[in-house]
Amino acid sequence: MSSSIPVITIDGPSGVGKGTLAQFLVQKTGFHLLDSGAIYRALAFGAVKAEIALDDVAKLVALASALPVKFVDTSIIYEGEDITSQVRTEEVAGVASTIAVIPDVRAALLARQKAFAMLPGLIADGRDMGTVVFPNADIKLYLTASAEIRAERRVKQLKTQGVSANIDQITRDIEARDERDLNRKTAPLRPADDATVIDTSHLDIDAVCQTVLSLVKKQALIA
Ligand code: C5P
Repeated sequence: MSSSIPVITIDGPSGVGKGTLAQFLVQKTGFHLLDSGAIYRALAFGAVKAEIALDDVAKLVALASALPVKFVDTSIIYEGEDITSQVRTEEVAGVASTIAVIPDVRAALLARQKAFAMLPGLIADGRDMGTVVFPNADIKLYLTASAEIRAERRVKQLKTQGVSANIDQITRDIEARDERDLNRKTAPLRPADDATVIDTSHLDIDAVCQTVLSLVKKQALIA
């Protein structure tokens, strides 16, 4: 069943091209964007800033429930500070995936994520968008690619941002995050039963975008 607000979910592991596809779809549809990973990253940033231990569930839940983060255009603002580039590091991603294992933390972030669904529609990017946050989404996509290929892409992306990176280290980080995301008890990373799964290992991102765009048009979500 689809709600009156069109929702397209994009799930999959890190470095698979979800962000690029999401931006492309935002441009083509004019829909809003939920980058749910950015919420988990902002929480990780806030926890480190407030020196909260990563196993202090009560404090993490309290922070998640009233997370002082705002998304302004493409910027992430935390208590007035622009943290957009700071939260893009592998270190923050590692903390985010550690905290994301805690069920009460995920529950505390649920309403905030659902609130992004507004007309004319939403593109939701994450790990559990199609399975937990928007189970009634109109289109559910799940992107995959091997860990090696994702690590190569991540290194390239970091280079364009002027950050040098070690491929072996990045591969290890990605595998460690995959392991936590795939094996956690609450909202593990997996395709929804009704998701369209796209293996992007040997597809360039433009091909992925075009394939998805035809799907969106076929479902008459846009003209
Ligand atoms: O997508 P991104 O790499 O920014 O996400 C960082 C981490 O946040 C992921 O590795 C994952 O552990 C967590 N996350 C999550 N559920 C989401 C989005 C992100 O658990 N919907």
